[in-house]
Amino acid sequence: MLIGVPLETADGETRVAVTPETVKKLRAQCHQLFVQSGAGAAAAAPDEAYRAVGAEIVDAQAAFGCDLVLKVRSPSADELPLMKRGATVVGMLNPFDREGLERLAAAGVTGFALEAAPRTTRAQSMDVLSSQANIAGYKAVIIAADRYQKFFPMLMTAAGTVKAARVVILGVGVAGLQAIATAKRLGAVIEASDVRPSVKEQVESLGAKFIDVPYETAEEKEAAEGVGGYARPMPESWLARQHAEVAKRVAAADVVISTALIPGRPAPKLVSAEMVQSMKPGSVIVDLAAANGGNCALTVPGQTVVQHGVTIVGETNLPALLAADASALYARNVLDFLKLVLPKDAAAVNVPLDDDIVAACLMTRNGQITRKG
Ligand code: NAI
Repeated sequence: MLIGVPLETADGETRVAVTPETVKKLRAQCHQLFVQSGAGAAAAAPDEAYRAVGAEIVDAQAAFGCDLVLKVRSPSADELPLMKRGATVVGMLNPFDREGLERLAAAGVTGFALEAAPRTTRAQSMDVLSSQANIAGYKAVIIAADRYQKFFPMLMTAAGTVKAARVVILGVGVAGLQAIATAKRLGAVIEASDVRPSVKEQVESLGAKFIDVPYETAEEKEAAEGVGGYARPMPESWLARQHAEVAKRVAAADVVISTALIPGRPAPKLVSAEMVQSMKPGSVIVDLAAANGGNCALTVPGQTVVQHGVTIVGETNLPALLAADASALYARNVLDFLKLVLPKDAAAVNVPLDDDIVAACLMTRNGQITRKG
């Protein structure tokens, strides 16, 4: 089958959906690869590296004109007309972007959104949310350490003792856990908060302290357990108590990394303007939820601002700042998903709807939106 790999054109997007490593594997399955010139350049994969493993370097028209197109982000309104009706696109198509899905359906394109894969053991190797959130959690700490004008570790020097940085992590999913692990390696003292009770043990096993906000009603406990591993919006009563606990920790913190998300909803506001004002000058907040409106009231998505002496980083695409590894992991996720829909030697993409992963990822087909839920 002819597989196209266009250059990503979304603002700040540096990742690529196929790396020379995965080209090799797809070539071994007898597929032909059309990679747009420059597609991997920002991810340390120049055209020559693709050529060396048997890909053909082409222009945008040829890459989008293939029967199967592998993308990082959904094709834009300008790019969609380059795709054939009946062609398939695999990427992070944003299942909650109704307009985007309508555009794909109207173009007659079969769309698989990898973010919609279930959080099951079988789907783990193609879980793009995990592979990319892991990178975001790591990079957030590196950015915080870079912006913070003090050390992370406690140091005893001839010129006196330096105190360890106090880091507060809000939201301990995949990104939060990696942020804890990374800040720990740098020697920080870490506290973390999440709505899901199962997280406490994971936080403690990484050497951080869990900010306990006990549940007082059955409603609070039930909401905290979430659905499918994801958080649900918490009752106001619990959020008020969490706010009070978090406010105390944030006031004493040097660095706050916030990662709290509820799928399909705006990010919960966990750090108010008053809380920012209570922080010491020189403190740093890295808001990983910036693309979803931010966990901090003063976050400006896409910008780094200084408010009340506190640096607030609102970077909306942290994985793109580690483009080579983000692409390497994403490309392996894509390759694993293709095993479900593209048998060796296949001339067409299969859509086995009895496969729960395929069914969950299928967003559009035959001119219709097929997304469940
Ligand atoms: P996410 O990116 O949707 O959310 C990040 C974190 O924010 C979550 O831990 C969530 O509980 C927390 N959060 C939401 N509202 C909050 C609030 N008001 N205050 C504090 N924290 C709040 O989550 P992610 O990283 O996608 O992980 C979701 C779950 O899926 C986790 O339990 C994770 O362990 C699980 N998972 C399971 C996998 C599997 O079984 N294959 C693979 C990856 C993740």
